[in-house]
Amino acid sequence: MSDNETKPNPDTSHRIATSGDIEVSTYLEIAKEMSGQQPVPAKEPTPALENESIVVLDFGSQYSMLITRRVRECNVYCELLPYDTPWEKIESLNPKGFILSGGPASVYDKDAPLAPSYIFEKKLPILGICYGMQLLAHQLGGRVARGKTREYGHAILHTSDPESPLFANITSDNTVWMSHGDKIETMPPGFHSLAYTENSPIAVIGNDTGIFGLQFHPEVVHTTAGKDIIKNFIYKVCGCKGNWTVGNFITDAIYRIKKEVGGGKVIMALSGGVDSAVAATLIHRAIGNQLTCIFVNNGLLRREEVERTFNTFRLNMGMNIRYADATERFLECLKGVIDPEQKRKAIGGEFIHVFEEEAQKIGKVDYLAQGTLYPDVIESAVSASKAAAKIKTHHNVGGLPANMMLKLIEPLRFLFKDEVRNVGLALNMPEEMVWRQPFPGPGLAIRIIGEVTRERLEILRSADYIVMNEIKKAKLYRNLWQTFAVLTDVHSVGVMGDFRTYGYMVAVRAVTSEDAMTADWARLPYDLLAHISNRIVNEVTSVNRVVYDITSKPPATIEWE
Ligand code: XMP
Repeated sequence: MSDNETKPNPDTSHRIATSGDIEVSTYLEIAKEMSGQQPVPAKEPTPALENESIVVLDFGSQYSMLITRRVRECNVYCELLPYDTPWEKIESLNPKGFILSGGPASVYDKDAPLAPSYIFEKKLPILGICYGMQLLAHQLGGRVARGKTREYGHAILHTSDPESPLFANITSDNTVWMSHGDKIETMPPGFHSLAYTENSPIAVIGNDTGIFGLQFHPEVVHTTAGKDIIKNFIYKVCGCKGNWTVGNFITDAIYRIKKEVGGGKVIMALSGGVDSAVAATLIHRAIGNQLTCIFVNNGLLRREEVERTFNTFRLNMGMNIRYADATERFLECLKGVIDPEQKRKAIGGEFIHVFEEEAQKIGKVDYLAQGTLYPDVIESAVSASKAAAKIKTHHNVGGLPANMMLKLIEPLRFLFKDEVRNVGLALNMPEEMVWRQPFPGPGLAIRIIGEVTRERLEILRSADYIVMNEIKKAKLYRNLWQTFAVLTDVHSVGVMGDFRTYGYMVAVRAVTSEDAMTADWARLPYDLLAHISNRIVNEVTSVNRVVYDITSKPPATIEWE
């Protein structure tokens, strides 16, 4: 069996390099013919992003990440960092201003988190939001009063200083979203009240050195002029230029990857998901066939998944891909496993073995690339600092053994999912790939309640295929975070024709979400649900009942296991 798939070999053209030497269908043959294709060379690299940023210091608000997104939507690079991050870690970002997030604390709590002194010493503009505003008042010599009741919900903001740069091009009397207990009673020296609401006489404060505080949350959509206020702060107060664009990001990322990798070799696991796909495409643009992707078929993928991934990457993009069909191995290690955590561990462990074996066949490799995204980076920073309860062991391709001694490349480490999709589109990746809904690493195994067998996988694949196609036909696919079928271990009695049946129950799950941290069940039209149910019981042998999951997250999770 050939070790590398970059050159067509007539003797084995109906096969691809697999650890198990398993025959695959024709699309791979065509792909193989095309595999000598070279990538489009990137333009001569230059660093495109003039170094400017806004730094959001996080005091624990549930909306902190949203602030970061809003700033980036205004084309200014922004990072969310813990409130106690030392200046040395921030300096290289060349911040043009700070935003202090909201948070659950009261400035009078015993261990209330305070703003670090450098934010005042650096003489840069500051925008404090909710708790952030109270901190400004508290630390700069004003007085914050403990609120007897929380003000929560909509309020109308009346501006008393329409000349303030914060309100440029914004009319008065806008709806804002309040969520606070404490409020400012006395302003710090040099500050003025710039706006008020019925319950908050001091709803916005500001001084002449570019320090502002907002009692409400401009980052949430319920605050109608919220994004304009943020935009005014970063452009009119901080003087940002706004160079954070997809095009600049791509040029810059290509430049950095080239510089880092030089003549080295990079490997990467391709899952078919949008994150690894975009990361691989970007790296491929930068270094061409110095990148080898390893695509492990764990036998737990959806119908047509393998074909789709191959067609996209090898056929259309001419990438260097090793394919390992490890279906048998994964099914073997899942035999008799029922516990969800055990399933995840078994799959994660086996994945590492297969990946390592494939990597060894490539020879000397210097870097491991991953499609890590910014929410994962933030989440691991938060869970490293707080004792967070573990709900599920997420199996991602990152957990590789330390003895591989590879340096990491994570070109999407600072991007949100929607930014990744925009990068994918700008790289001319197929829309189908860019808009693909997330799919978990352990695949269909965590959507089969009970033991994973070949037969059950086929039943689930058939039901899932119907769900997916009907959702796409109804043009709802992009609006939903995820849509899928679950094969439960419940059997129930039914009647088909004149006969009694005793078959499986399939659950359909469709959720809306921004980031998978919370999710709501989608209110799919009844007729669509009826059609899906009808097709599943009629077309999928051994299924005689379909239910729709109407649970949000929390308390449920998106996946059933
Ligand atoms: P839960 O079920 O925890 O899922 O609400 C949140 C999101 O994560 C996906 N998910 C995973 N992704 N490896 C992954 O790469 C995993 O082990 C895993 N488990 C859940 C899930 O599909 C949803 O988008």
